[in-house]
Amino acid sequence: MTSSQPAVKYTVPGLELEEGSKVVELLRVRLHALNDLSLTLKHIHWNVVGPHFIAVHEMLDPQVDRVREMADDVAERISALGGVPAGTPGALVAERTWDDYDVGRADAIAHLGALDLVYTGLIEEHRRVRAEVAEIDPMTEDLIIEQVRDLEQFQWFVRAHLESAGGSLSTAGAHTERQAAESAGPDGGR
Ligand SMILES: [Fe+2]
Repeated sequence: MTSSQPAVKYTVPGLELEEGSKVVELLRVRLHALNDLSLTLKHIHWNVVGPHFIAVHEMLDPQVDRVREMADDVAERISALGGVPAGTPGALVAERTWDDYDVGRADAIAHLGALDLVYTGLIEEHRRVRAEVAEIDPMTEDLIIEQVRDLEQFQWFVRAHLESAGGSLSTAGAHTERQAAESAGPDGGR
C-alpha cells in the first residue's frame, strides 16, 4: 500500500484515484481493528468467570453484533471506493499494529479492565483516522463518526463496572491489558 501507484482503478465520483486509495488504505486497518474487536469480545464472553459472570457475559453479545455491523459497513465502503476489503484472519494478523488480547479465563471485572484498554486504543485510532479522512471524504468521515459514538457508549458500559463511587477508574495508569486486568480484578488495587 506504500507504492506511488494508486491502489484503486476507479473510485467514487468526486474523488481522485489517489484520494480514494488513501481512504481505502486507512479503512483497511480499521476493518482489521473491528474484526479483531468482534473476536476479542466473543473471547471475553466465553472466558469470564466470577460473581459478575452473567451481567458481563450478556452485556457483550449486543456489542459483538454492532461491531460486526461496523466491520461490514467499513468493508463495503472500501468496496464502494474501488478497494479490496481484506477479511481473512491471515491478513488481519499480518497487517495489524497491536498485540493479540492476552487474558484467558479470568474474573469478569478483570476482563473489563483489559477491555477498557482495548476500546481506548481502537477509539483513539478511529478518531485519528476521522481527522485524516475529513478533508478527503466527508462521507467516510461520517461513517467513522457514527461508529466512534457507539464505541464510546460501549466503553462507558465497560467503565461503569470499573468506576469507584468517587468517580475514578480502577484502570487509570494501566498501560497493558494485563496491568489493567490486575488493577480492575478482585485482587486489584481497590
Ligand atoms: Fe454465547
